[in-house]
Amino acid sequence: MIIRSVSPEERPAVSLPLQQYAFTASPGPGFPFDPRYHHENAVLAAFDGERALACATRIPMTQNVRGRVLAMAGVAGVAAAPDARRGGHVRALVDRHLADAVAEGFAVSALYPFRTSFYERFGYVSLPEPARVTIDPASLTPLLRADLPGEVTWHPVADAYDDVRDLHTRLQRTTHGVAMRPAGNAAWVREANESWAAVARVAGEVVGALVYKITGHHGELAGGPLLAVDPHARALLLGFAARHVDQIDTVTLTPHPADRPELWSTDIAVTAAVRSTPTDVFAPMARVLSVPGLAGIDVGTGEVTVAVDDPLTGGTWRLRSDGGTLAVAASDAEPEAVLTGHGLSALVYGVLDPAELPVRRFAPTLPAPVADRLRALFPPVTPWLVEPF
Ligand SMILES: CC(C)(COP(=O)(O)OP(=O)(O)OC[C@H]1O[C@@H](n2cnc3c(N)ncnc32)[C@H](O)[C@@H]1OP(=O)(O)O)[C@@H](O)C(=O)NCCC(=O)NCCS
Repeated sequence: MIIRSVSPEERPAVSLPLQQYAFTASPGPGFPFDPRYHHENAVLAAFDGERALACATRIPMTQNVRGRVLAMAGVAGVAAAPDARRGGHVRALVDRHLADAVAEGFAVSALYPFRTSFYERFGYVSLPEPARVTIDPASLTPLLRADLPGEVTWHPVADAYDDVRDLHTRLQRTTHGVAMRPAGNAAWVREANESWAAVARVAGEVVGALVYKITGHHGELAGGPLLAVDPHARALLLGFAARHVDQIDTVTLTPHPADRPELWSTDIAVTAAVRSTPTDVFAPMARVLSVPGLAGIDVGTGEVTVAVDDPLTGGTWRLRSDGGTLAVAASDAEPEAVLTGHGLSALVYGVLDPAELPVRRFAPTLPAPVADRLRALFPPVTPWLVEPF
């Protein structure tokens, strides 16, 4: 088996057929491929002679990790030919992508798994899945009587694309977990123009956006991530959804996973659903690729020396709060705790309390005083990836 990179020009013949077979109804036309949206991506394939057996894509993205925007390797398009599965080709491809990402200076990586146990083998840990929220629009109509300065305008997404992406960029600067695809890769949303966008402004400044579709008369206003800088912006967008009360039966959207939609208004009729099954899992996963690459993220207080058992981030590290941001140094001192790569990533992303780590076998043991110090250094915080890829 030989692994090599696949150029954008080669992809329609080499990697696309594997991805079409894996991810679409077949035989059939599959999804279209336009090299304009893929030139930033790195695609690797495993070959037996001329034949590609498996492929995997790495998208150069960014992600806010505890207040700092870091280079993030987004992994996607992972597929093997059916007769070549369970042959170790995908293991080799993902290992190579992660090693390349480390060499290129990426600090973290994220993906949307088909099965979490598969990617746990590569050191990824699950992030919370944002609830899919379904609201009766009639219960939002009181928001229309609220005296909220500002306006919401309605557009084909192509016309509002720059406003939506600018807002996403601004939210990424302040919101833990928010990821973004590079401009070229993301531009197909504008070119395809298959959605509407509602854009909220206050004093001329964009403060909220909801990209959505209408599924039919008395159907659904099916929204994506609810992007809003504050509750006022959120209420403007919900008020816009309320204007559809005589047209559609339900409003669906995805707010920040720490949000509590049942508290958004009095008498609101809302269901928030999170589903997790071994397959068909939509909750993202993420991992740290470089411990020194985390320097400068926002942390709590104190310091701790940990040994990390992981092929990419392994070693003994002194992690210290330097006035509220993380200082990292390799250390020869006796570690106070041993963590797997998952354990480290779970603490950095804020998704597991230190007491959970031995339960999940992400740390062999963790004495309570060390757990307290790790908790003080990495206080809980809920990540929200936002970006699909
Ligand atoms: C998922 C898929 C890419 C796996 O390819 P594969 O060729 O079987 O993978 P590999 O043989 O390299 O296996 C890699 C590791 O995962 C393990 N593994 C394979 N399938 C697994 C599964 N369904 N669940 C858990 N672990 C699995 C293997 O045992 C191996 O572990 P090891 O290296 O520790 O021994 C392939 O089945 C596929 O193309 N599926 C359809 C498309 C898809 O779902 N892609 C994933 C998108 S996120």
